[in-house]
Amino acid sequence: MALSSREILSQAPVVPVLVIEDVNDAVPLAKALVAGGLRVLEITLRSAAAEESIQRIIAEVPDAITGAGTVINARQMERMAEIKCAFAVSPGHSAGLLAAAKETGVPLLPGAGTASEIMNLLDHGYDVLKFFPAEQQGGVSMLKALGGPLPQVTFCPTGGVSLANLADYIALPNIITVGGSWVAPKDAVKAGDWAKITKLAQEATDKVAALRRG
Ligand code: 3PG
Repeated sequence: MALSSREILSQAPVVPVLVIEDVNDAVPLAKALVAGGLRVLEITLRSAAAEESIQRIIAEVPDAITGAGTVINARQMERMAEIKCAFAVSPGHSAGLLAAAKETGVPLLPGAGTASEIMNLLDHGYDVLKFFPAEQQGGVSMLKALGGPLPQVTFCPTGGVSLANLADYIALPNIITVGGSWVAPKDAVKAGDWAKITKLAQEATDKVAALRRG
C-alpha cells in the first residue's frame, strides 16, 4: 500500500523543489540531499530532463522518496503513475488532475491559496495541501488567518520559503513541512558542488529539528 501524502511529508524536514536540467546531475544531487537528511524530493516537470531524472533517482537512490512537482494535468499524472513516482505535487488543481489522481492512486499534494480553493479540495477529500505561492499570497499571516475557519487543513507552504523565514513557518500549527529550492541552488548544481548541497540540506534538517524540539 502506497504511503499517503501526509505520511510522506511528515518524514520531510524540508522538501527540496528541484529543477534538473542535466539528467547526469539527478543521482548525485539526490544522494547529496539524502546525505543531508532530506529524503523526500520533488523533481519538477519543468525541464526536459525531469522524467528521466525521476526514473534514475527511483532506480539508484532507494533511500529517497521521489515525487514529481509541477504536475498540472491528467496526462502527466498518468505518466508519473507509470514510472512509479511516490507522490505528485501541483501548484493548483483542476477537475482532470483530481480525477487522474483518484484513478491512478498516486498520492497528490494539490495546491491552493484561497479559502474557496481549500474548500473545493476538502470536498474532494484532500486535507493536506500545498500553499502556493506562499510568500506572495501572504505567507505566515495568511496561513494563520486560514487556520481560524479551516483548522482541519494542513499545509506545505512553498514559494519564497528559505532559511531566513523557516522558523516562522515551522511555528505554525497548520504546517506539515515546507518546500523550497534554496537547498539546491542552481549554481551549485551546475558546478557539481554536491558537498555544498549536503551542507545546505543538513543546515535545514538541523534547524527544523531544533525548532520542533522548541
Ligand atoms: C516552485 O514551485 O518554484 C517552488 O515554489 C519553489 O519556490 P522557491 O524557489 O521560492 O523556493
